[in-house]
Amino acid sequence: PDKLKIALLGCGVVGTQVARLLTEQADDLASRVGTPLELVGIAVRDLSVEREGVDPALLTTDAEALVAGADVVVEVMGGIEPPRALILRAIEHGASVVTANKALLAQDGPTLYAAADAAGVDLYFEAAVAGAIPIVRPVRESLAGDTVRRVLGIVNGTTNYVLDRMATDGLDLDQAVKEAQALGYAEADPTADVEGFDAAAKAAILASLAFHTRVSIDDVQREGITSLTADDVAWAAGTGHVIKLLAIAERNTGDDGTEGIQVRVHPALVPADHPLAGVRGAFNAVFIEAEAAGELMFYGRGAGGAPTASAVLGDVVSVARHRVLGGRGPVESSYADLPVLPAEAA
Ligand code: NDP
Ligand code: HSE
Repeated sequence: PDKLKIALLGCGVVGTQVARLLTEQADDLASRVGTPLELVGIAVRDLSVEREGVDPALLTTDAEALVAGADVVVEVMGGIEPPRALILRAIEHGASVVTANKALLAQDGPTLYAAADAAGVDLYFEAAVAGAIPIVRPVRESLAGDTVRRVLGIVNGTTNYVLDRMATDGLDLDQAVKEAQALGYAEADPTADVEGFDAAAKAAILASLAFHTRVSIDDVQREGITSLTADDVAWAAGTGHVIKLLAIAERNTGDDGTEGIQVRVHPALVPADHPLAGVRGAFNAVFIEAEAAGELMFYGRGAGGAPTASAVLGDVVSVARHRVLGGRGPVESSYADLPVLPAEAA
């Protein structure tokens, strides 16, 4: 192709940065992909909002029409609908899709994977887990020949930032959440962060990839941080611990001998000298234990516009290269069904 048309769905914290990078790095991206990437439009709700560095002529409220004419659709709107319908429509039109939408993938990923598979197009989602940290690709591709035993980590930047501010400055939860919102870390509704839904969605996605099975957000045992007070956090510090919201997915054998996996998200007391205790602010860290590889550790910025846009752009380059050179990324619709065990079975 002499160019690839990119449609951007959403121009908020992440979308603004994706639009900026697509524009500022246009020449570099063209040479990396082998053809220019043209941002043909950006779907939003409100055309009157000023968006720094974004050409207002690109904005539209007609997301459906935008999707129909694109080669690559980048979804950074958030929520279940309309993103679900728009992604399915994009796939139907033969477009490759890049999304940061963990809530949608953890709720209805298999439908999207099956549609992408049937249409023979890419569906990439590196930004959906742990912001800028390359974690989806390593788990989906690099470790595909190994047997993962356990995935454990901090995968929500907002709650890590909030717990950090409570510990270091004695802020209460509501004050710290307001700061996380202002910094662009929180979800549109921060309940998703503080009640652990966002971490549970990411845990479900990582578990599905790591264990080659299907885990939905409903399979994840979940507890958030809303019952924690600054006093709890100070008490933990007094005992030589730091409170962290952890996501854990592991292989286990149930009481009846069935092998399966368990996935949970909950606050935990981490000893102050453990590497996870040093994960500050909106940073994330993920540890993986695999049979042949042994222990692996991933660390970086887990939330925020530019870090997340970095992961989105990496996916855009990958799917665009496939359109230019041929080939496709991994397929997710052929999983073996390793069962998800009830929490009490281990
Ligand atoms: P924002 O709320 O900042 O932006 C959402 C954008 O989508 C806005 O531009 C909004 O339009 C647009 N939008 C929402 N609903 C509609 C709709 N029905 N029709 C048209 N446009 C719509 O969200 P973020 O940028 O923070 O997040 C976007 C996605 O990225 C989410 O899935 C989130 O979970 C994910 N993500 C976010 C990260 C972060 O650090 N913020 C990190 C990793 C992933 P308008 O501006 O007109 O309201
Ligand atoms: N709200 C999310 C977080 C954004 O705080 O981690 C990144 O996925």
